[in-house]
Amino acid sequence: MEERLNDLRAQFFEDAKSVADTDALTALRDKYLGRKSGLIAAEKKRVGSLAPQARAEFGRLVNELGDEVESEIARIKEHLAEAAASSALERERIDVTLPGTRPRRGHLHPITLLRQRIEDVFVSMGYSVEDGPEIETSFYNFDALNIPPGHPARDSADTFYVSKDLALRSQTSNVQIHSMQRRQPPLRVIAPGRVFRRDTPDPTHNPMFFQVEGLNVDRNITLADLKGTLQKFVEMMYGANLKTRFRPSYFPFVEPGAEVDFSCYVCDGTGCRVCKGSGWIELGGSGMVHPNVLLSVGIDPEEFSGFAFGLGIDRMAALMYGIDDIRLLYENDVRFLEQFA
Ligand code: DAH
Repeated sequence: MEERLNDLRAQFFEDAKSVADTDALTALRDKYLGRKSGLIAAEKKRVGSLAPQARAEFGRLVNELGDEVESEIARIKEHLAEAAASSALERERIDVTLPGTRPRRGHLHPITLLRQRIEDVFVSMGYSVEDGPEIETSFYNFDALNIPPGHPARDSADTFYVSKDLALRSQTSNVQIHSMQRRQPPLRVIAPGRVFRRDTPDPTHNPMFFQVEGLNVDRNITLADLKGTLQKFVEMMYGANLKTRFRPSYFPFVEPGAEVDFSCYVCDGTGCRVCKGSGWIELGGSGMVHPNVLLSVGIDPEEFSGFAFGLGIDRMAALMYGIDDIRLLYENDVRFLEQFA
């Protein structure tokens, strides 16, 4: 009798060795402890068929075996749970000493970088930086700037009109008027910002671009002040050895007006690809503020005079960085922009 149970016990422990997961454990439990077809249950059923004197002893042994199997299964269950937990720990371990992935850092746009440099130069000369509206009335866009009715600059073929009287400004010169209305002379301001013109985009034109306007109004301001200021600006931006020249030109809001060039900083004026062989690079327009402009904001031209200038930031950026198509500045292709980080 005992022999049978010893064999069953040995068989159980042999089977138990190969249990590697909870499914196998359930199968093992069913095989031995299952109520209907479990091997131990089968032994228990035999108790009734034994000779009376053997029953008690056999019954006790079967129960003992049942308890032993039960507790071994509980032990295996616990063991499996521990193994699962520690393998999960292993799998999900985080190595905090591994180098992290660096987030990509943004940076300022080349136009912004250049605008900031320009601002620094003029701020160092005592100018303040002003902002002005990009949508503007005809008064600020044209009338106050001495641009007469019927002037081509007012033409809707050149200017983006929003309504009959409102247009996207085609130059930063509108800020001259706002500044003089806001403050009394002496007045020294620059106004960098966007301007809009109905141009077909090509390598040197974009319907939106950047200018910086300058305005200096005080008693006894002369053309010499204008020349000295732009000469100093060129020296600080491009190099101390460079020269400027002023070519007479016409802009309705200045008298006299001049276009300003500076000697090429690449070839020092001898002629190269950058200055297209001329030795000079165009900087922008300038002149002495027209008396009508001063009158339009109630400043007495007999008492005050001033100079103004307007420079193209995009063209300066294109030259400075060797960009041969200014549209690249507005396409926001990171492969292009990354070069200015
Ligand atoms: N507003 C002119 C333009 O967009 C540039 C300019 C010329 C501005 C002469 C000025 C100036 O202040 O005095 O072409």
